[in-house]
Amino acid sequence: MKLRVGVIGLGRMGRLHLMNSLRIDDVYVVAVADKSKSALKRAKSLGVQKLFLDYQKLLNDCHDLDAVLISLPNFLHFPSIQLALESGVNVFIEKPLATTSKECLEIMKKVKASGRKLMVGHCMRFLTVVERMKTVLSKGSIGKLEVITIEEILNGPFAHGVIPKPIPEWWFNPQKTGGGALIDLGYHWIDIFRYFTESRKARVLFSHLDYRLNLPIEDGAIVILKSLENLVTGIIHVGWYQKSIFPRYNFRLVLHGDAGYMSSEELIPKNMYLHAIKEGMKNLLRKTIRKKIHPLSYTYYYEAYYNELEHFFSCIKNDLEPSVSAIDGLRTIEIIEEVYKRSTRTSNGTK
Ligand SMILES: NC(=O)c1ccc[n+]([C@@H]2O[C@H](COP(=O)([O-])OP(=O)(O)OC[C@H]3O[C@@H](n4cnc5c(N)ncnc54)[C@H](O)[C@@H]3O)[C@@H](O)[C@H]2O)c1
Repeated sequence: MKLRVGVIGLGRMGRLHLMNSLRIDDVYVVAVADKSKSALKRAKSLGVQKLFLDYQKLLNDCHDLDAVLISLPNFLHFPSIQLALESGVNVFIEKPLATTSKECLEIMKKVKASGRKLMVGHCMRFLTVVERMKTVLSKGSIGKLEVITIEEILNGPFAHGVIPKPIPEWWFNPQKTGGGALIDLGYHWIDIFRYFTESRKARVLFSHLDYRLNLPIEDGAIVILKSLENLVTGIIHVGWYQKSIFPRYNFRLVLHGDAGYMSSEELIPKNMYLHAIKEGMKNLLRKTIRKKIHPLSYTYYYEAYYNELEHFFSCIKNDLEPSVSAIDGLRTIEIIEEVYKRSTRTSNGTK
């Protein structure tokens, strides 16, 4: 049975989800929606037949969809999820689940009442390096987990391909984003802290927001968390002030246990170009012997986006609950809200 899928939002993330869906077995992308005519034109050239200039029109007109993948600006997550669930489809929503805990709670109720599945795009759980570290930790190789440190400094909204493009206006509007680097990057790592500690709730011990780029939203954040269940501490530092270019990736995740430690830097390929060549060759071989290729594996990190969608579709087919559900989105947003509540920004951005 082929799953009939609609892709909503064809910006940076939506395009990636569209391309990945087109490569996943038994998935048929029936419709797409975006405000941009050129984005729709590109989707048409890839074989998508139904094109809509607004997500509401797609959800109102397409009655035979199994699922939608939503990659709209943050402020549209809440209304689009609601409409999608009312239309009776399963939902994959890009992170964050929504911009406030109130909205997240309403979504949770709606998911329950609808009987549909909702997965939030907590893609970092699907990174190969994170999966490997989780396995090693569960085998007890570093003993009992005590502290997790995570750093990710990227260029956030300023990231672009070879040809720079204007930054979509919603990125710098706090009403539309719900915040800055914390809700953008910190969201992922707060979730990963919860994932490694297997904690339902965490307390904020310390937080600091940075405004060094003089934007209306923070461009950096440092947060220290304590898991309420097992007292593991998490130190998270995220920022949008990265100047280096891909494949250099200013990221490290270190797990400190009472019998040793493990760093993501020991597990990721030392030379990303060599890794890309090796993976490219492996995929060529897979193609030659008619085996399934591993899309984006040559990039090392981008494969996670493919894996999360494969998981979502397989949950629908096999009637299983996705490993990341609305509660994970809610718990993450609760922590982010607490940090924003604690922050009193002054004119120079310091506390
Ligand atoms: N998981 C990750 O690593 C990751 C990375 C970047 C962004 N994101 C998340 O993905 C989401 C989208 O981010 P992005 O960078 O792709 O943004 P984007 O601005 O590039 O894309 C948003 C798209 O939505 C379209 N759109 C806006 N209103 C619409 C409407 N009413 N109907 C149909 N289409 C509409 C826009 O035309 C645009 O193409 C955000 O929530 C963001 O937080 C996740």
